[in-house]
Amino acid sequence: MKVNSNEVPTEFQIQPYVCDQYLINGQLKTWKGNTTEVFSTIKSLNDAGERIPTLLGSIPDMETETALEALNAAEMAFQRGQGLWPTMKVGDRLKCMETFVEKMKEHREEVVKLLMWEICKNKSDSYKEFDRTVDYIVDTIDAYKNLDRKGAKFDKQGGVHAHIRRGPLGVVLCLGPYNYPLNETFCLLIPAIIMGNTAIFKPAKHGVLLIAPLLQAFQESFPPGVVNIVFGRGRKIASPIMQTGKVDVLALIGHSSSAVALQDEHPNKNRLRLVLGLEAKNPGIILPDADLDLTIKECISGTLSFNGQRCTALKVLYVHESLVDEFNQRFSKAVDELQFGMPWEDTFLTPLPEPAKPNYIKELIDDAVGKGAKVLNKRGGKVTENYCFPAVLYPVNETMNVYHEEQFGPVIPVISYKEIDEPLDAMAASDYGQQVSLFGRDVRKIGPLIDTLANLVCRVNLNSACQRGPDVYPFAGRKNSAVGTLSVYDALRSFSIRTFVAAKDSPYNNEILETLLNSKESNFVSTDYLL
Ligand code: G3H
Repeated sequence: MKVNSNEVPTEFQIQPYVCDQYLINGQLKTWKGNTTEVFSTIKSLNDAGERIPTLLGSIPDMETETALEALNAAEMAFQRGQGLWPTMKVGDRLKCMETFVEKMKEHREEVVKLLMWEICKNKSDSYKEFDRTVDYIVDTIDAYKNLDRKGAKFDKQGGVHAHIRRGPLGVVLCLGPYNYPLNETFCLLIPAIIMGNTAIFKPAKHGVLLIAPLLQAFQESFPPGVVNIVFGRGRKIASPIMQTGKVDVLALIGHSSSAVALQDEHPNKNRLRLVLGLEAKNPGIILPDADLDLTIKECISGTLSFNGQRCTALKVLYVHESLVDEFNQRFSKAVDELQFGMPWEDTFLTPLPEPAKPNYIKELIDDAVGKGAKVLNKRGGKVTENYCFPAVLYPVNETMNVYHEEQFGPVIPVISYKEIDEPLDAMAASDYGQQVSLFGRDVRKIGPLIDTLANLVCRVNLNSACQRGPDVYPFAGRKNSAVGTLSVYDALRSFSIRTFVAAKDSPYNNEILETLLNSKESNFVSTDYLL
């Protein structure tokens, strides 16, 4: 197969990569069992001159036995809170993380290249994903130092001294999504382990090979069993791990159906903490006085960055009837002007990494058209072997599948409204509650609207597309959109619990506490300032 045709710049050409290593209990082991081939939907020429999906390599298709071995390693490393890692000095855990991030940086080019091939993310966004992840780790280290400094003291209330800190929860099962296979997964994994938990991490179905170059960095940076990385199918790996009841935290970015199914496998639900980032159907609401130039620019990036494959994407646009015609005409033109190309060409639109996605998007379009919507833009809905050109659909109503489903792809439903209660009621009735974008200017309208919207979602973006970043801000959701809050700071809280040492104020206890502090015998009880 001619993977490296002349069309691909030399630095982005790729050779099939056999990922046969996995990490359990600090050992990089070689997998000798069944494997699964990994393909890109970006085509290459075979010897007969036919265009076929590019073979990128292979990954282990692990059996349950190996998954349980990984669980066992994580359990042993946590040792019900008695392990080396959960009892280690915070400063020492941070040193491990600093070592890791330095080693990770060495693999920037490999990981970015795999991001482009595996999930077809364009070049700048692939670099951005890598760099944003490195920044996230560095910021997490700083945030934990701050948290530790705040805890480096004693309180005294009601005659009781207290030394309050945050402690780990136990074993974390960490599962990430294909659209941010590095960033979103690490935004779970990194805070989880830095807080003293131990983890089993299974990469997503797409965007899996790119974890391979980092295996050694994990192995060399953390004590055995702290991070265990396995490859394969959810039903053979994640489900059996959950069934043991030994997982303390399910950390998952993905669909609520997967999260609920895994949760249901756990025999002791009251002992299972959930940290979940789930699906959404973020609306854009365009008020009569919206600045259309700005609105269209934000709606293009909001609906179609990475082809709409973002949980934060704008997935439905409510446009006031007074400007819907002008909006539709200008927005459709802007969509048709978008460039499609290969990831390394750094075009805005790139192929879809899921082989079935173009047809799914086409089905949504056909369903809506069959029920009265029109495709407003000329190129809308044109399907190629790995793409469906973004379609602006109007008028959309609740009889259509695209009204309800999280399309997670390039199709944009537009709904016209007369009264503001129409989008508000739709949002209230929706199963989702992550974010909204509100476009307008008149504060007499915007003010009260924000008061309501803030109770329907967790972030109201004013004249701005929805997004997760900057990562220091809280990333949360209501209803089916999330459980818990993530941000550099909040994730540290989500993966830990407040735990403290208390002692009645008495000369006897006070002397012991003072001696304890001076002796440095405890890693937990410490008033040292972490530099
Ligand atoms: O897929 C959901 C991501 O968290 C979205 O992140 O808004 O930075 O693209 P983003």
